[in-house]
Amino acid sequence: TTVEWEAESYDMGGHDTYMHKEISEQPDAVDRVLRGRIDDRFSTVHLGGLNLDAREARTIRRIKILGCGTSYHAGLIGAGLIEELARIPADAEPASEFRYRNPVVDPDTLYIAVSQSGETYDVLAAVQELKRKGARVLGVVNVVGSAIARETDGGVYVHAGPEVCVVSTKCFTNTVTAFALLALHLGRIRDLSVADGKRVIEGLRRLPGQIQEILKQEDEIKKLAKRYADAKSMMFIGRVRGYPVALEASLKLKEISYIHAEAYPASELKHGPLALIEPSLPTVAIIPDDDLLEKNRAALEEIKARSGQILAVAHQEQEKADHTIVVPKNEPELDSILMGIPLQIFAYHTALALGRDIDKPRNLAKSVTVE
Ligand code: G6P
Repeated sequence: TTVEWEAESYDMGGHDTYMHKEISEQPDAVDRVLRGRIDDRFSTVHLGGLNLDAREARTIRRIKILGCGTSYHAGLIGAGLIEELARIPADAEPASEFRYRNPVVDPDTLYIAVSQSGETYDVLAAVQELKRKGARVLGVVNVVGSAIARETDGGVYVHAGPEVCVVSTKCFTNTVTAFALLALHLGRIRDLSVADGKRVIEGLRRLPGQIQEILKQEDEIKKLAKRYADAKSMMFIGRVRGYPVALEASLKLKEISYIHAEAYPASELKHGPLALIEPSLPTVAIIPDDDLLEKNRAALEEIKARSGQILAVAHQEQEKADHTIVVPKNEPELDSILMGIPLQIFAYHTALALGRDIDKPRNLAKSVTVE
């Protein structure tokens, strides 16, 4: 079944589609998830609804994040943020898989359910199974008072505002930002230094303005989208921080343009997908200026050697790429929040060029409330 939004009740605000409106709202949305939560005195953040005191936070040995679709991808980035900032082993898994493999429920593991709607059946059922087994489950949820928000022990509201387009954009960005807040909070209770806390807070505060800068590149991204719109298939690659961004960008493209796309860690190219590379299969490469820059460049060389076209999303022009979308640099831990945004715009304009029904892609629902 589908949860039908009363679309008429939300003003399009001069945009042709809800997706375009929601992409454009991201600077304000991110501002909202940060608002009232930053504590400059202790270089940390306050999360009022978390329901996890400092003593409990110190006893967590692992974090397991569960979600579906785009929320699962946001969870993957969230797990990376938690490992980097709080040094707690963390990973994300599709909720639907988790609940069917009779998971080992460990008392020292904190479980986090991620959902825009708060109503996705597979996530809700996973939460209920975990609760039944006595686990501590938090939520990172957008819709206030939704089923998952009610069933969890506490959590972080994402405050993205209503999202009408079936595919998620602003809620994804806000969910990842909410995870950055949670990771910072846990980090400052554990081993993250004051200096690092301050650095990340300053980075968070720069996000809305930097998103605005990315939105200004829309015309240029639109031209690129038109250029690649006749591709039958596209490859998305990234490493570590860039890999979940590649996964989400490839999902966005297939959901609304119906172009086949897949995402791979750039390091895995040589173990299979390199066999596919030829001029008609373009690659989108996520290349932040981090420790893996040189390794990523080597992957581009491999692709170029097979005459593959490359569109890079990077902090600086990439020599081996045919085109580069240059994204403003933040703190390394927060870069993935920004790198996904040009690829939302890219998917949008690809779908538009192909005449797709962007807000209501075929066969998909905004919220899947049955198994
Ligand atoms: C559906 C939507 C996706 C969404 C997923 C999870 O499949 O089409 O866009 O990511 O559900 O939804 P949730 O509301 O739990 O984030």
